[in-house]
Amino acid sequence: MIGIDAIDFATSRYFLDMKNLAEARNVDANKYYVGIHQEQMSIAPPNEDIITLGYAAASQLVRQYDSGKIGMFLFATETAVDNSKSAGSYLHDILNLSDKCVTFEIKQACYAGTAALFTAYDYVSTHKDKIALVIASDIARYGLHVPGEATQGCGAVAMVISHNPRIVSIRKETGTHSANIHDFWRPTARSEAIVDGALSAKSYITSMKNCFKDLQNQTGITVKDIDYFCYHTPFGKMAIKGHQHLTGRSESDILESLTYNNLIGNSYTASLYIALISLLENTHKDMTDAVIGMYSYGSGSVAQYFLCDVIKGYEEHIDEEGHKKMLSTRKRVSVQEYEKMFTATPGAANYETSGKLVYTGVDDKLRRQYVLR
Ligand code: HMG
Repeated sequence: MIGIDAIDFATSRYFLDMKNLAEARNVDANKYYVGIHQEQMSIAPPNEDIITLGYAAASQLVRQYDSGKIGMFLFATETAVDNSKSAGSYLHDILNLSDKCVTFEIKQACYAGTAALFTAYDYVSTHKDKIALVIASDIARYGLHVPGEATQGCGAVAMVISHNPRIVSIRKETGTHSANIHDFWRPTARSEAIVDGALSAKSYITSMKNCFKDLQNQTGITVKDIDYFCYHTPFGKMAIKGHQHLTGRSESDILESLTYNNLIGNSYTASLYIALISLLENTHKDMTDAVIGMYSYGSGSVAQYFLCDVIKGYEEHIDEEGHKKMLSTRKRVSVQEYEKMFTATPGAANYETSGKLVYTGVDDKLRRQYVLR
């Protein structure tokens, strides 16, 4: 049995209330609250990046393990900061991982977190005495005054994948679907994504139906065999629509999985796994042995449907109180402050970051610099 032995997440210390964005953009607030189903979004200051967010998610978690046991470390992101060097290399060092631990970055839009999870699964299945660390970390940026602006956000998840996991086991049968489409992309010279919103929403649903059917053909499973559902959540309404298409049921089925994403916004590769944490921490009843359906979608596109089984005692290994405190102590920013952060030169600033790691900019050879404070 292989699965998630430990899981944690982080987001930035700042958020924008969708009501304030609506006022500034002259939009009815209900478009965001109801139409998009989003209350707030986390805003990353210029000295926060995928590496500082990843550190905040992983730093407590890795301390639970003998670092010599972590044989593989996968960093999933679509907010890559370098075309060659893995973002994971910085954290490999800062997290004091072993020099035997193989570290690399994985990219395929929001699907990369799941690609990393299953690569870790395969690694652990052939290395019985090892565990693998996965960090999925992203900052969603579409731009100011564009339709995608209301679906930004940021966050990182860290997970340890092992035999005999303490939180959920992962079933190895999965349904997949891939297609070459331009629904969302970010050419290397750009820091903002380009998106065809309508096409992306259509592809999210079509891909979900296709990969669920693929899983069904292999296993005979139906939605009635699934107790809880988690979706990649670019914004709450997308997950709700996905759930309605898959099950014909209402949004009330999945609200617990949306609680955290509603406050964070899109965190791309991390979002499905933040939905999982949200489900486990906000469903206030014993979920032992429950089957969770997980839908992962990455534009471009690759999608996967897979199943997890909740392990007895899982609640001892999640941190509802810590996560709720982290979210409730974020600082509210005005639209002006958000725009200032959005357009600032990365690095040069003295804002609070999600953890102790701060990005301070590049040196004269464009090498990224970090300090632990
Ligand atoms: P938009 O054009 O501003 O909004 O962009 P809209 O006009 O489509 O309205 C949105 C919804 O609000 C509609 O509901 C309206 O009716 C409703 P729907 O018809 O969809 O059910 N509405 C209202 N409701 C209540 N009261 C009101 C009101 N006014 C309107 N007063 C869009 C919206 C999501 C397209 C845009 O924000 C966008 O392009 N976002 C980015 C793309 C995205 O997130 N796509 C999701 C699927 S793709 C994906 O998940 C992958 C991704 O995470 C990236 C990756 O994989 O790398 C994005």
